[in-house]
Amino acid sequence: MYADNFLDSKLNDRKRLGLYRTLQVSDNLIDFFSNDYLGISQQKLLSFKDIEGYSMGATGSRLLSGNHAVTEHAEEVIAQFHQTQAALLFNSGYDANVGVLSCIPQKGDTILYDALSHASIREGVRLSFAQSFSFRHNDLQDLEEKLQHSKGRIFIVSETIFSMDGDFCPLQQLVALAEKYQAHLIIDEAHATGIIGEKGEGLTQHLQLQHKIFARIHTFGKAVGCQGAAVLGTKRLKDYLINFCRPFIYTTALPPLAVKAIIQSYTIFPVMQARRQQLQQYIQIFQQAKLPFQKLPSSTPIQGLIIPGNEQVKNVASILQENGLAVKAILYPTVPKSTERLRIILHSFNRVEELQQLLQLLSGFAKYS
Ligand SMILES: Cc1ncc(COP(=O)(O)O)c(C=O)c1O
Repeated sequence: MYADNFLDSKLNDRKRLGLYRTLQVSDNLIDFFSNDYLGISQQKLLSFKDIEGYSMGATGSRLLSGNHAVTEHAEEVIAQFHQTQAALLFNSGYDANVGVLSCIPQKGDTILYDALSHASIREGVRLSFAQSFSFRHNDLQDLEEKLQHSKGRIFIVSETIFSMDGDFCPLQQLVALAEKYQAHLIIDEAHATGIIGEKGEGLTQHLQLQHKIFARIHTFGKAVGCQGAAVLGTKRLKDYLINFCRPFIYTTALPPLAVKAIIQSYTIFPVMQARRQQLQQYIQIFQQAKLPFQKLPSSTPIQGLIIPGNEQVKNVASILQENGLAVKAILYPTVPKSTERLRIILHSFNRVEELQQLLQLLSGFAKYS
């Protein structure tokens, strides 16, 4: 066996701090944890006829052998649906955020990003040569103070629905501040895609702000039920990314079959109004339920129950899992200390009885806080 015991010291630290991560299969549990908000991943998106001629290997990067007609078609479909000039596909939302943030802001520029931004945004910021500062979560005053001291070209980064709290960013006010300080907005729509707006077009279009945003990132691994992401913006932005964005350039492209599935999902999720309504009903039921935990205010499928302490929150999650419910504990350092939480995801396909079972079990816990 390879002598890699030098890895032990950090692993043991994690164990000592109760932060050790392991992989688990929860396939047979009732789903209150996946990002498959509308159940599209469980649907047969493509028939045998549809897949004929589409391979599971792109064969190369987009700039070499991996650019296929279906990929360009997908980008046209997505750009049109999201009312933008151009879309560029990425293998994941992680790649898209890392790529955009690491190659656009330059030395001497400033990136201001929400303190609760996703790890992929932070990673892109870390790789950029621009200076960067986080602003307090959704705190416009803090952002404005930082804007006043920003140098060079300024980029403001936020998410329309935050992945761990389930709340919205104040997009209209962010646009107003960006205009006031001539900053460029980069907006991650990962959790809003398929969910927000009449057709699931996302918050930006729902508020008719698409012409005010420099770059939007939509991801396909959540409500879209597939894999991958697109960066939306002008044709010039697309050309820039094709030339300078390393996670786009130096990787094998998405397989044509996966791209075909994305196109198919874009034909079905826009007409899933009934599923979006069902989801809203569940969200209301959950928000109105009396529970012995602090509930984060959220009108989205992401619902957080604060249970301070890694051990405490893990205990509650494992009791729910023993009762057949897939619910995940989110631990420090993924979220700030004392805000450890259960992250409960509601889906249009959850049955009312399943939701009631969840609420009943939660009600049975003594007050943790
Ligand atoms: C806000 C946000 N952005 C980006 C990502 C990354 O997207 P993907 O899973 O497609 O890499 C996630 C996924 O967890 C996310 O929550």
